[in-house]
Amino acid sequence: SVSPALPEPAEIGVIGGTGFYELLSDAAEMRVSTPYGEPSDVLTVGVVAGRRVAFLPRHGRGHAHPPHRINYRANLWALRMAGVRRLLAPCAVGSLRRELGPGTVVVPDQVVDRTSGRTGTFFDGAALHVSFADPYCETGRTAVLKAAAGSDTGPVVDGGTMVVIEGPRFSSRAESRWYAAAGWSLVNMTGMPEAALARELALCYTPVALVTDLDAGVDAEESVAQQDVHEVFARNVRRLRGLVLDTIAELPRERTCRCARALDGMEVPFDLP
Ligand code: ADE
Repeated sequence: SVSPALPEPAEIGVIGGTGFYELLSDAAEMRVSTPYGEPSDVLTVGVVAGRRVAFLPRHGRGHAHPPHRINYRANLWALRMAGVRRLLAPCAVGSLRRELGPGTVVVPDQVVDRTSGRTGTFFDGAALHVSFADPYCETGRTAVLKAAAGSDTGPVVDGGTMVVIEGPRFSSRAESRWYAAAGWSLVNMTGMPEAALARELALCYTPVALVTDLDAGVDAEESVAQQDVHEVFARNVRRLRGLVLDTIAELPRERTCRCARALDGMEVPFDLP
């Protein structure tokens, strides 16, 4: 169900990560409940560059939901119910490479799922398998890079593999070295199953990763502290918000990407919201 004072549907969704609890100051609240339960918070819906945008803080305002307890299915279902078809997903990440230091923004192009025990599909009781070879929307990724090129955001790195760990603890030094040796560049706790669930709803999904720390394997003496993650994020959140807003203006209205056709030819056992 959707709240009675339903604002007009949105087109673009933004899921804000740690420290990213607000996108627009002039926005209407939209309370949505789903067959999968409650999303992390109410949606706020407003207009950016003439486009209707729904914002959802992934952890809830006040950071009530840790990464392993987020109801990812409810969040994605709620956003699709609100009309969203393209998603931008800003998130805090650790870096597995010295050259990607704190403050660097990266648009990953691949993901490795090391989470466990999370509910990661809408396709319970149906033998359906979406393609996930390219987990992120190419149109979305291009839009972020274009927005960055035309602004003072600073350089944005194109591509990289993000490994998503179960958390809530950070990685051991050996785990971190192992991820780096595998050639992966970023580590985070929320990128999955979010991206896969988005694909199961034929949504475009584009992560925008802000490096908040060098992970434990990069520096022999250092270890990751939650406080550092929050501090670096807070210092960069305005910049990241600016990049997200500029990206919205760059997103084409028509969806010609493969994400939109992810369910073509499949008998999905429910009506998409
Ligand atoms: N999010 C931000 N920094 C992180 C790290 N080092 N490991 C996992 N998730 C993170």
